Amino acid sequence: MTCTPVYYPFLHVGKDARIDTLAIPHIYQEGRWTFDFEEMEKQVSTKTKIYILCNPQNPLGRNFTKEEVIKVAEFCDRHQLVLVSDEIHCDLVFNESDQAFFSALNLPEKLRQKLIVLQAPSKTYNIAGMGYAFAVIENPSIRKTFCATRGHTLSEINCLAFYAAEAAYKHGEPWRQELLSYLSKNRDTITQFVRSELSGCSIPDIEATYLALIDTRSAGMKNPAQYLEKDAQVWVNDGAAFGAPDHFRFNYGCPHARVLEGLDKIKASFDRYQR
Ligand SMILES: Cc1ncc(COP(=O)(O)O)c(C=O)c1O
Repeated sequence: MTCTPVYYPFLHVGKDARIDTLAIPHIYQEGRWTFDFEEMEKQVSTKTKIYILCNPQNPLGRNFTKEEVIKVAEFCDRHQLVLVSDEIHCDLVFNESDQAFFSALNLPEKLRQKLIVLQAPSKTYNIAGMGYAFAVIENPSIRKTFCATRGHTLSEINCLAFYAAEAAYKHGEPWRQELLSYLSKNRDTITQFVRSELSGCSIPDIEATYLALIDTRSAGMKNPAQYLEKDAQVWVNDGAAFGAPDHFRFNYGCPHARVLEGLDKIKASFDRYQR
């Protein structure tokens, strides 16, 4: 089980494992995207084994509160699910002083019994090419199963990647602070632009990540990613892959001037579409 829209590989890992995936839509409540616990309770069954959480959420940009994470963990505990918490965007939370990231690693012990936490420096420090990521698994039996699934072909992390990750985590904090303030400017620009210039489109308040999911349904635009790629020559992600058709995902992890250029091209393209 996972909640959508979500980072699209979550919707396919079930196929790799030859198991079914239950995708429960997130709900928009009191001005933010959150979990539809009622629906999750309705759909969970004794066949359900794993819940995959994406926190901070790609593509919704939520930094879930401690209360929300605890509620998810209690749900998993109640139904004996392994909770997999993908926290790869956890160092990309804006306004950390208002709401610090709450890692599932900080859950009370009872709720950490069947927990796998995934993290990596690849997003924040832009070192995805190093291929370094890690899982924190306290439960020895789950850890053993997890390690066994890598089989005989998945290679070890290379030496250079260990040094890169160590350097990022040990010395990267001033850089991360600069990055967050740069990204928050991009986030504000795109948020204001969508709300004031792209009539009928909507964008949620983004608390984390460098990704924005834009809803084009009220603008009457179908398959916006396909249209924008052709008409505006702007490559955005198709929301359908995340479980959000007629949405597109804009990546603003790039120079401010590039964000503005992309938004201007998108606006011109929308104007042509609506004419
Ligand atoms: C939620 C989430 N998990 C995992 C990944 C994969 O990251 P990497 O391949 O750098 O480990 C991504 C990349 O977009 C992501 O957004």
